[in-house]
Amino acid sequence: MKILVTGGAGFIGSHTLIELYAAGHTAVVVDNLYNSSKEALNRVGKIVGEEIPFYQTDIRDREGLEKVLSRYQFDCCIHFAGLKAVGESVAKPLEYYENNMNGTFVLLDVMRKHGCKNIIFSSSATVYGDPAVIPITEQCPKGHCTNPYGQTKSMLEEVLMDVQKADQEWNVVLLRYFNPIGAYKTGTIGENPNGIPNNLMPYITQVAIGKRKELGVFGNDYDTHDGTGVRDYIHVVDLAKAHVCALSAIARQCGVGIYNIGTGHGYSVLDVVNAFVKVNGVDVPYSIKPRRPGDIATCYCDPAKAKAELGWEAQYGIEEMCRDSWNWQKNNPNGYAE
Ligand code: NAD
Ligand code: UFG
Repeated sequence: MKILVTGGAGFIGSHTLIELYAAGHTAVVVDNLYNSSKEALNRVGKIVGEEIPFYQTDIRDREGLEKVLSRYQFDCCIHFAGLKAVGESVAKPLEYYENNMNGTFVLLDVMRKHGCKNIIFSSSATVYGDPAVIPITEQCPKGHCTNPYGQTKSMLEEVLMDVQKADQEWNVVLLRYFNPIGAYKTGTIGENPNGIPNNLMPYITQVAIGKRKELGVFGNDYDTHDGTGVRDYIHVVDLAKAHVCALSAIARQCGVGIYNIGTGHGYSVLDVVNAFVKVNGVDVPYSIKPRRPGDIATCYCDPAKAKAELGWEAQYGIEEMCRDSWNWQKNNPNGYAE
């Protein structure tokens, strides 16, 4: 298939491009490079053995998108483009609502106009709020999102389902990602946060490489096996492959499909730190800090539906995730910057 990949220069998008090409698909990337670098696409091009067509375009720029969709006939869009920093979204709600909501509205309208009515959307476990049941199945009711970022994911899921309900030529796959970490095995592409990382693994790798003094562990009084927060970490390469599998649902005209994309295993913050230290033989000093507002104790999924319906299942465990995150960081201490 020919796939429009919005946000394809980003962390998950760049890894997904590799798996798309490996499976025989081709892609065109639209990204405004707000949170990414063209260098990521150059490196993906080297891995897949051909240059990835790229348009530095904002998805809110209707004319810019029109140009791309007039030029190619796409079978499907994988829609990664969006702002994703939870804390920043609390400080800048308008910017988050405007970018994520309006960007998707323009994208859907232009897609419809050009007869491309298949979309795979990057949703998030955040839509479950503080989950009613663990492990989380897709049946679990959506919960209250404590931040504008999460609200945009939850609302866009509803928007996409409404669009499909009104016009059943649409096929919509909502992939609810759990916690993606890791990097491609070459260590040439990976997660490249700007400034102080918000997420656990990039913070750990920056402590390990000496850029930050110590990791703050946000709370050790949760109701978990060691008191620290438990999450379902998933290797980004496994996550990337889930998108390729999701294309099969699009191909069989699934209507709406909703899938949890995680491993089904929960690891605490200290489990991750200990695994990282053991696998990589490096130190990660840490100290216990107060809980981070908005965090929940435990979040991991039941990924059985994705296995049954998409034939997708995570292959990598926490050791590979820690190894590959470190491989990327140590080979690229400054990310994509020279
Ligand atoms: P990322 O920031 O690395 O990638 C997102 C890309 O979208 C960036 O390259 C950015 O420049 C681009 N972008 C943002 N707004 C744009 C716009 N208006 N027009 C064009 N391009 C735009 O993030 P990621 O980690 O690769 O996440 C990809 C998607 O998955 C996002 O939608 C994110 O919300 C979602 N998601 C991520 C996680 C996670 O933990 N990384 C978890 C759940 C869901
Ligand atoms: N944590 C620390 N110290 C840090 C960073 C994180 O102790 O410096 C802890 C958190 O308290 C939490 C765990 O590590 O217990 C994971 O935190 P992350 O920030 O890495 O991930 P979250 O589960 O909070 O959120 C992530 C994404 C969200 C997404 C969610 C579910 O940031 O966008 O996963 O997919 F919605």
